[in-house]
Amino acid sequence: MGRVENKVALVTGAASGIGLASAQLLAKEGAKVVLADFNVEGAKEAAAELKAQGFEAEGVFLNALEEQSIKDAVEYTVDTYGKLDILYNNVGGTNLHKDLDVVNLDLAEWDRLMDLNLKSVLLGSRFAIPHMQKVGGGSIINTASMAAFASDAIRSAYGTSKAGVVHLTKYIAKQYGKDNIRCNAIAPGLILTPAAKNSLPQEMLDIFTKYNALPYNGEANDIGYGVVYLASDESKFMTGQTLEIEGGHYQANPTTADLAKFTK
Ligand SMILES: NC(=O)c1ccc[n+]([C@@H]2O[C@H](COP(=O)([O-])OP(=O)(O)OC[C@H]3O[C@@H](n4cnc5c(N)ncnc54)[C@H](O)[C@@H]3O)[C@@H](O)[C@H]2O)c1
Repeated sequence: MGRVENKVALVTGAASGIGLASAQLLAKEGAKVVLADFNVEGAKEAAAELKAQGFEAEGVFLNALEEQSIKDAVEYTVDTYGKLDILYNNVGGTNLHKDLDVVNLDLAEWDRLMDLNLKSVLLGSRFAIPHMQKVGGGSIINTASMAAFASDAIRSAYGTSKAGVVHLTKYIAKQYGKDNIRCNAIAPGLILTPAAKNSLPQEMLDIFTKYNALPYNGEANDIGYGVVYLASDESKFMTGQTLEIEGGHYQANPTTADLAKFTK
């Protein structure tokens, strides 16, 4: 018996990285999974691989910047598998060339990132909740980021939108808790998804490792296991929370790594 046996899940941004790893783990734990992504070929390929291994999965197109497309992905899930128990609002991202400091950031990019990272969570939840109410409950999981809690020299829109995700998670938890719908978020630290590995030079990855409490960086499955926990009934008394999965990176005074030589 899998940990999410017979549940139906929709995962957004599931063709790559954290979304893909989470969709694969949910399927292996018994869920029927719809993988939704802008990269529909990637989503369908990943679903086909899961099916070839004997699991239940389908891929579908999603543009998380469009309300109708989000609605369509939710309806496709219900039409395909008859219900919706788990929604993982995972799509998100930034643009390091445009999402800069407050004086210099591109305002159109600010709006786009609010839509991509925050409004997509609102809309996914809005369309999923009535279906969850029909089956007596469900679990909504949102991908936030540790950027929601700690500021940065750039990425002002990204961090602010992810802080919104943390707070919206609490609103959904409060508003639909009595319907047995739980809503939690995960705040990843640096996770070595293909996108992160391709865009960050080794020297930068080493700086992240230096400031982690643990001696390594995170992998997509580290978040995926958190998703399975929040999706399953194992977390049935947990709602409104943000699980920080970040290697202890943000849990100490930031000067600690540099001051270590004085305290040895
Ligand atoms: N990787 C990290 O270090 C890290 C850290 C903190 C938070 N996060 C968050 O985790 C989530 C997943 O990140 P990832 O690193 O796995 O990214 P990724 O780039 O590997 O995957 C993102 C997926 O989303 C899809 N996508 C992008 N825009 C879309 C759109 N408009 N509509 C539909 N699909 C779209 C892409 O095609 C891709 O498959 C994001 O919300 C990100 O902000 C990542």
